[in-house]
Amino acid sequence: MKVTYYGHSCFGVEMNGKHLLFDPFISPNPKASQIKIDDIPANYILVSHGHADHVADAERIAKRTGATIISNFEIVTWFGQRGVNGHGMNHGGKHRFDFGTVKYVYATHSSVLPDGTYGGNPGGFVVWDDQSCFYFAGDTALSFDMKTIPLTCPRLNFAILPIGDNFTMDAADAAIAAEFIECETIIGCHFDTFEVIEIDHDAAKAAFDKRGKTLILPAIGQTLEM
Ligand code: NI
Ligand code: MN
Repeated sequence: MKVTYYGHSCFGVEMNGKHLLFDPFISPNPKASQIKIDDIPANYILVSHGHADHVADAERIAKRTGATIISNFEIVTWFGQRGVNGHGMNHGGKHRFDFGTVKYVYATHSSVLPDGTYGGNPGGFVVWDDQSCFYFAGDTALSFDMKTIPLTCPRLNFAILPIGDNFTMDAADAAIAAEFIECETIIGCHFDTFEVIEIDHDAAKAAFDKRGKTLILPAIGQTLEM
C-alpha cells in the first residue's frame, strides 16, 4: 500500500486501485508549496472534522476529480450544499466501499466548518480490506476509547497519529495511543506546520522507542510503502 504525505494531516493512500485522500490542507500550507494540488488523484476524500486545516482544499479537489467525500453526516451535508457528493457516517458505524471497509471512530477534539457551520462530532477512520488495516486518527487527544479499536477492527498494520501537541496529543501521549491500539508502526502528522506545533523530531522518535514502537516522520511529498 502506497502512502503519500502532502503535509500537515493530509495523506494519499492507494488501496485496491482507488485513491483515498485524507484531510486536504495544501494550498494554505507554505511548507507544502512544492505539492502540485491539481495533480493529486482522489476517488474518495476522507474528512476527519470540519476545521480549515483539514478541509481547505477538499472542495477544489473533489470538483476536479469527482471524488466522494466520506465524513460525518453534518460535514457531508455541508459539502452537498456546495455540489460535492458524499457519504455520511457517524461514530461506531462502518460501511463497505469498493476499495474496502471504513469505520468512523471517536476523536477527542472539536469540529466547526470554516464558515461557522456546526461540523458534527470530530472523528477518525479505520480502513481495511482482506490484506491490511490502518487507522487515521484525525485530530485527537489520547483517549481510552482507542482501546476499542483492536477489539472491533482487524489488526492494524500502521496508524497515522497526530503528535504536534497544543491542539492534539503530543508524541509521548501518541506512543501510549500506539499501545492502546496495539499497533507497532506509527506515521506522525499534525506537526511543524505552525510554530505552536513545532516538535523535536529526535525526542518524538525516542518517546516511541521507549515503548518499543516505531515512529515515522515523513517528509512532505514523500511516498512510503507500508
Ligand atoms: Ni482540528
Ligand atoms: Mn487540526
